[in-house]
Amino acid sequence: MPVTSPSTDADLECVQLVKRFGDFTAVDDVSFTIAEGSFFSILGPSGCGKTTLLRMIAGFQRPDGGDIRIKGKSIVALPPNRRPVNMVFQHLALFPMMTVEQNIAYGLKRRKASRAEIARKVAAVLERVGLPELAGKRIDQLSGGQKQRIAIARCLVLEPALLLLDEPLGALDLKLRERLKVELKELQAQVGTTFAYITHDQSEALVMSDQVAVMDRGRFVQVGTPQQLYFEPRTAFVAGFVGDSNRWSGRVEDTNGTEAIVITTNGLTMIATRAGEPALSKGDAVDIFVRPEAIVLGRDADGAGGCENRLPGRVESLLFDGANSRVMVRHPATGGDIMVALPQTGELMGLRRGEDVYLGWRARQATCFAAAP
Ligand SMILES: Nc1ncnc2c1ncn2[C@@H]1O[C@H](COP(=O)(O)OP(=O)(O)OP(=O)(O)O)[C@@H](O)[C@H]1O
Ligand SMILES: [Mg+2]
Repeated sequence: MPVTSPSTDADLECVQLVKRFGDFTAVDDVSFTIAEGSFFSILGPSGCGKTTLLRMIAGFQRPDGGDIRIKGKSIVALPPNRRPVNMVFQHLALFPMMTVEQNIAYGLKRRKASRAEIARKVAAVLERVGLPELAGKRIDQLSGGQKQRIAIARCLVLEPALLLLDEPLGALDLKLRERLKVELKELQAQVGTTFAYITHDQSEALVMSDQVAVMDRGRFVQVGTPQQLYFEPRTAFVAGFVGDSNRWSGRVEDTNGTEAIVITTNGLTMIATRAGEPALSKGDAVDIFVRPEAIVLGRDADGAGGCENRLPGRVESLLFDGANSRVMVRHPATGGDIMVALPQTGELMGLRRGEDVYLGWRARQATCFAAAP
């Protein structure tokens, strides 16, 4: 799988990293580079090897193969405290009985910084994370979101070349996470420190990152901008993991190389567009993905004009969620449900369960991959 090629302005370069636990390979030949000052996320399901990868970069875990370089210099032989790297853990590891100030000063003290320098840097970093008034508070007097920002401040104050963040928002409730992901992105842009951020939440990765690596079973399956992953997934795994999709398994009935007529296992025939490698041929097993927002929904058949795929349906349920509303439409012939984004124009506001509707989608918006193994 091609990944970003090594470059001289890379802050971090991992080359063919491998980590095994017994005969299980947790990180399997992973190579990538992170450009200086960028926000890089590693996105993957639980157990795919994200934390193991970050721990190798931080120096808490020794790789079984490969190299890790920061600004061109190998760091694999260095102990964690000699690496220009800091890590924010999911459980923030703040000292609960110390004040905010003492927590942030801790690393500087260990480095034997002068009192004046410590005071100046602690004040500056608190200003930067927007919490100068909390300096004298104890950690156990803070809210979850405040603790999270202090944990980041405690790392930033050490001016690392690279900040590693292991699901730092994981312990927070949904509302707070939504807010902090925007704040964290702004903070990163402001301070300009390179961030390597791991998450299993695709929305976090898409919102915050310059580049995202999708990880599956120890390997990077695709590295790209959020837009590339969303619009041009290269494997069925990426298409299924990034964003919402309708997904069918099926078989190629006929193909001209770029487009294919496929029949899904539940009997739906559609024209889909081949994506990724290898080329398909008649009879191949495929996975087909259609995003809810790619489907035209209307009360009469005309609305779907121009779509190569058109079918009637009946509203099975409405999942109203403001701009994010979905309609589940049942296809009578196959009995399958198709998830459709509710158009925001308002004309379908009165849509009811049981109503007859028409669906349509373009062949190029039905992406078809060789079936996932
Ligand atoms: N010290 C260890 N000894 C043995 N196996 C381990 C060890 N650490 C991790 N593993 C295994 O390696 C795999 C990857 O673990 P890792 O913690 O990196 O996953 P993750 O992607 O961070 O998952 P999560 O999203 O749940 O945090 C898992 O199957 C895990 O059980
Ligand atoms: Mg983890």
